[in-house]
Amino acid sequence: MPTALDRLTYAARQTARVAWYAGHYAAGRRLLKPMPKPDFPIGPTPSRAELTADMRALFEREWRDIAAGLFPAPRGLGPEPAEFLRRSLLYFRDLPQVDARRHGTLDDELPPGTQADGLPDYYRQNFHFQSDGWLSDHSAVLYDTQVEVLFTGAADAMRRRALAPIATWLEGRNQRHVRGLDVGCGTGRLLASLHGAWPGMKLTGIDLSAPYLEEARRLIGRTARVKLDEAAAEALPFDDASLDLVISSFLLHELPNKIRAQVLAEMARVLKPGGLVVIVDSLQKGDRPEWDGLLDLFPHYFHEPYYADYVTGHLDSWGATAGLEQVSSENALLSKVVAFTRA
Ligand SMILES: C[S@@+](CC[C@H](N)C(=O)[O-])C[C@H]1O[C@@H](n2cnc3c(N)ncnc32)[C@H](O)[C@@H]1O
Repeated sequence: MPTALDRLTYAARQTARVAWYAGHYAAGRRLLKPMPKPDFPIGPTPSRAELTADMRALFEREWRDIAAGLFPAPRGLGPEPAEFLRRSLLYFRDLPQVDARRHGTLDDELPPGTQADGLPDYYRQNFHFQSDGWLSDHSAVLYDTQVEVLFTGAADAMRRRALAPIATWLEGRNQRHVRGLDVGCGTGRLLASLHGAWPGMKLTGIDLSAPYLEEARRLIGRTARVKLDEAAAEALPFDDASLDLVISSFLLHELPNKIRAQVLAEMARVLKPGGLVVIVDSLQKGDRPEWDGLLDLFPHYFHEPYYADYVTGHLDSWGATAGLEQVSSENALLSKVVAFTRA
């Protein structure tokens, strides 16, 4: 049972993260040139106070689950303080390039390749106007800071809501018999949380980016319980019905419609009967109608070529087409956590 001190530690950690990244966000806004207002209609947007209240509610929900024994309090998942600072400096040093791409004064979009390296053209883009897209050590080192600044310190907490449906599903199961996969694991934030909560599970993370996988290895450390492999989500290197658990965070909105459908079908194919798929990704239109305007604005401010298609669809019906049946869905600030079993 967590003690009062555990609760204080949890609250202090989350508050420090939010303050740190909200500070970056505010400083970044001063440094960035304002973008022109969108010239298309946008839906309603929440006030800053509503967003803050929702973030607080997200942390409260997580703490309630921890207190109820569903999963342990998160460990601090971060580099040493000196490395933390170094990343912060790198983030600010890179910001002018990101801003120049946003304003169209720097056009260094990654060129289409020959695919000799197996990387599809839809993947070779400066997603979010990131320097080098997904394709360099520099990008991999900056990514977590960029995402946390965007979500003012709540990105990991949104990802960790995936642990709630997993905890419910695990009841009566032995974690040591669970074989799990994180599809598009990137720098390994969700995978590390899963491993931290249930270290007995045998996990694999796959991603197309070798530098991001290296960053994930640095975060998770050397352990035979977590494998990391370069592979495409639309052609998972696993046999039919061979995995108990499949998770994925913030991948699906980065994919063209056709590839996204293939990825969901692959997740269903590799899942054992009785297994669980948990997806964490952006809210979609109608999940919180009073916030729909944010989903209109996001691709205007960030390079998100497939986001508008993503948010106008319905994850539950895409899952059904792939042979997955929704068992739960929870809105978590700007994201949604949906769990499926095989239909
Ligand atoms: C927005 S990031 C999300 C990463 C991580 N899951 C997270 O929560 O931060 C998208 C990740 O998906 C990977 N990715 C994109 N398309 C992919 C594909 N077709 N197959 C495997 N990985 C892919 C990228 O390399 C990148 O690491």
